[in-house]
Formats: sequence, structure tokens, C-alpha cells
Amino acid sequence: MYFDNIQKKIKGIQKKKDVLILGIETSCDETSIAVVKNGRDVLSNIVSSQIEIHTRFGGVVPEVASRNHIEAISNVLKESLNEAKLTLDDIHAIAVTYGAGLVGALMVGVSFAKGLAYATNKPLIAVNHIRGHMSANYIAHKDLKPPFIGLIVSGGHTAIVEVKDYVNQVVIGSTLDDAIGEAFDKVARVVGLGYPGGPKIDKCAKQGKNCIRFYKENGKLGYNSSFSGLKTAVINYVNTLSQKKREVPIRDICCSFECQAIEPLCAKVVKACREYNYQTICVAGGVSANSYLRKYLTELGDKNGIKVLFPPIELCTDNGAMIASIGYFNLMNNVGIADMDLDAVSSIPFDTTK
Ligand code: KG4
Ligand code: ZN
Repeated sequence: MYFDNIQKKIKGIQKKKDVLILGIETSCDETSIAVVKNGRDVLSNIVSSQIEIHTRFGGVVPEVASRNHIEAISNVLKESLNEAKLTLDDIHAIAVTYGAGLVGALMVGVSFAKGLAYATNKPLIAVNHIRGHMSANYIAHKDLKPPFIGLIVSGGHTAIVEVKDYVNQVVIGSTLDDAIGEAFDKVARVVGLGYPGGPKIDKCAKQGKNCIRFYKENGKLGYNSSFSGLKTAVINYVNTLSQKKREVPIRDICCSFECQAIEPLCAKVVKACREYNYQTICVAGGVSANSYLRKYLTELGDKNGIKVLFPPIELCTDNGAMIASIGYFNLMNNVGIADMDLDAVSSIPFDTTK
């Protein structure tokens, strides 16, 4: 351990009434640092987005993302502490996303967090980014307690999970190929909407109809999903029309794709919730910002007596507050306590605790 009395220090923090965690997030194209009290109360959550920079390239360029994290991170820390009206001395522990994500981007946050922890003698907590997304629900819904069913829908992951407690979750089903967000981004590119694809499809779909039958699941997937067949069907449809020099009905394509990606997934998560005997579904990850998903799943939940919870839009996409939140629950449960050898990892299994 980088200092001898860390276990004693952690025990002391665990007994405190109020615990302040600094959360650092750099896994993709947002540099974000937040201060969160007791895992639930956000004192600050500064997000410096690189969207404008990557729009020029039509997607996130890993090398460019890393360089921009390096440029932004010190100021993001300053702003975050200023907004919380705190100094580093007031912070009890430092939580950082160590995976999953772009390794170069993650390394910036991990190195920065290690430096801070070492220089200030504070515990360092390693956070699994996907578990961070789910924790956004603890911030948004103050009385929410596990267990419940979770639906994770992000750019890199799609899964239905049983969230057993604050640190353990079991995968019920996951995607066999692409993540749902990846499919949104690819379809947006193919129809010429560009980056960032998800929000653009969301907006465009509202003006279209679900009138093109792209693809039907074979019904053998159980709780697993597949998005590559749907994505390929959209690509083939667009290419065929383009070759014939016919007009491409972008709005109807967006609406049909969105409905056909979202509806089967919602049916599965509701089925899982009933079969596993839960009354609550919590949704997490960037795609949980999607307006059709929010509406459709809420209504389906209502029909089945299931409460469906989403974080507010600003906590759906990547942010430091969700990392500080899960960092708190990790710390309280002695999970993810890291040392100076903490490394960035591009992919982590869902059920990894820390
Ligand atoms: O969770 P996130 O910010 O990053 C990862 O951890 O992957 O998710 C990013 C994904 C992208 O694929 C983006 O297109 C998608 O979330 N997304 C959306 C919306 N907002 C973001 N997808 C559909 N509708 C949206 N409104
Ligand atoms: Zn994310």
C-alpha cells in the first residue's frame, strides 16, 4: 500500500456521518470531476465535453481524446472544488474509472487520480465505469435501495442485470454482438446524421414512422440481445436505395430502427423483472437518455405493475458524479481499494465487483 495506515484510515472514514468523494471520469470523450456526499448528494459535477472536437472526425479519435483529457483535467478539478466550495483537504477519498473504455483516455484519469491520492495521502478507489452508470440512479432517486433489475444501455455495453446490493450484480442477459449505442452511432453515420449518433437519431425519429420492417429476432435469444443483424439490415436498405438513386427516407429509417432496437429489449427486461420477482427496473448508460426508450419502457412497466426509473438526462451520459457515487458504496463495502499499481483496463466483465 502507498501508505501504511490506509486500512485504519478507511475504517475511520466509514464511521463518519458525512463522506465526501471526488469522482474522476475520463473513459471516453468527457473529462469530468465531481464531488458527491454520501453517494447521493452532488456538490459539483463538472463535465468538459470533447463532442465538438470529435464531430469533425465523425467519431471519437482515441489519441485526440487522451490529449484533450490531459489539457482539461487540472482545470476541471479546480472548477469542481470551487463549485463545491471545498479544497482537496476536505475530500475523504478519490474514486476513478479504471475501465472499461479507451485505454489511453482512461490512463489520463487513473494517473491523475494516483498522483492526487499519493500527494494527499487519501484512499484511492477503483471504479468499474458500467457500475458507475447504474449508480446515477442512487443520486437521482434518494430512497432507491437494491435489489432491483438493471438495464444497462451504453455505447459499449447492453445487458440486463440483477443488482443484488450496492456492490454485487449478476448478468441475466447481454448482447451477443454490438452494443445498442454502437448500433445507434453506426446507423446515424450511414444515414448521414454523423456524430454523436444517438441524440441525432432520437430527434430525427420523432418526425418519422415505424413503417420499414428491417429485421425480426429469431426468438431464440432468451434474455440476450443482438443488434448487428438490425444494423446490417439498415445499412443494406440504405445502400440499395442509394445504388438505385432513390430518395433515402431518413426519418422513417430512424424511427423504424429505434423502435425495432428498443421494443424487444424492453420486453425482455420486463419479463426478467417479473420472472425474478422484482417491482423496479433501473435504466443506466448513455442510451437511457433516449426519449422513446424512456416513454416506451415507462408505459410497459405501468401495464405490468413495475416502476421504471431513469437518471435525469445529464446523469445518463458519462459524468464524474456517478463515479463518485459508486466510489462511496465501494469504499463503504471495502471494494475496489486500489494501490499505486492501478492500471487502465479496456474491458471488464460486468460482474466484476470493483
Ligand atoms: O454511456 P455512454 O455515455 O458511454 C459509454 O459508456 O459507452 O454512452 C454513449 C452512447 C453513444 O452510443 C450515444 O450515441 C448514446 O449513448 N446516446 C443515445 C442518446 N444519447 C446518447 N442513444 C440514443 N438516444 C439518445 N438520446
Ligand atoms: Zn459511459
